[in-house]
Amino acid sequence: MENLLSMTDAKDKVFEILDTASDLKSGKIKDKALADKYLGMIFEKSSTRTRVSFEVGMHQLGGTPLYLSSNDLQIGRGEPIPDTARVLSRFLDCIMIRAKSHETVEELIKYSDIPIINGLTDKEHPCQTFADLLTIKEYKGDFNRKLVFVGDGNNVCNSLLLGAAYTGMDMTVACPEGYEPDEDIYKLAQKEAKDTNSTITIEHDINMAVKDADILYTDVWVSMGDENEAQLRQKIFKDYQINSQLLSQAKDDAIVMHCLPAIRDQEITDDVMTSSQSAIWDQAENRLHAQKAILYLLLKD
Ligand code: CP
Ligand code: NVA
Repeated sequence: MENLLSMTDAKDKVFEILDTASDLKSGKIKDKALADKYLGMIFEKSSTRTRVSFEVGMHQLGGTPLYLSSNDLQIGRGEPIPDTARVLSRFLDCIMIRAKSHETVEELIKYSDIPIINGLTDKEHPCQTFADLLTIKEYKGDFNRKLVFVGDGNNVCNSLLLGAAYTGMDMTVACPEGYEPDEDIYKLAQKEAKDTNSTITIEHDINMAVKDADILYTDVWVSMGDENEAQLRQKIFKDYQINSQLLSQAKDDAIVMHCLPAIRDQEITDDVMTSSQSAIWDQAENRLHAQKAILYLLLKD
């Protein structure tokens, strides 16, 4: 794996990354493998978890992270991505970027000589998927499960579809018509799922979708960049909420996941977020362990 733009880049490394993440979390891997390595972290959008977990994770591995807001970089004044890529490649060992558009990260990869990690675009959020898979592994012990993603077929959903297909997990997207995941990713995930004996489906009827679910997962109805559609989305998604009534229709031992940040009483209710079935806080912690595994794999000598 040279870069992590999409989950497709990690297809053959999924289980290695998850095992490394578990070993880093348990302390079985302790070394400062990334001493003298520098990670640039470019943010074109807000972040709490991605920023802090990459920054702390890089320090814990012995390396040095640099927070680079696009507003402060010359990118903000129009310096082209290719020039930025060429120059930062001379200073840094790796770049993590949260970009408004997926194409920005593709361009950065094209002109960089160092590994690039996608820290969220409008299309994918692969780092999140690794934390999600690690959490499912910890709670359920295996991936022979049914995950139902409730709400918007967005970046988080797209990466998770591929993660599910690669690990052999069944995944159903319960979404309103017109808010399905990316068509190419959906088709690819269905194709990959055949090789792992799993199924990838879309179901607009949420009550049908949650039957026999082991995992209920949701994300905001209004992602960063979709703010101008906020009012419309709140109407369209109103029946796609994870609440105690919906949770009671899943398996008795089902867990609830959310990538965060959450908007209470939109996509999820507070009682569910803080219930004994919520895996959300462990899932957030796992961003740290999963990302350290990704950095370790990409940068260890
Ligand atoms: N889940 C996630 O990526 O959170 P942040 O936006 O806070 O980084
Ligand atoms: N889908 C959300 C995820 C935030 C972590 C967004 O893109 O804003």
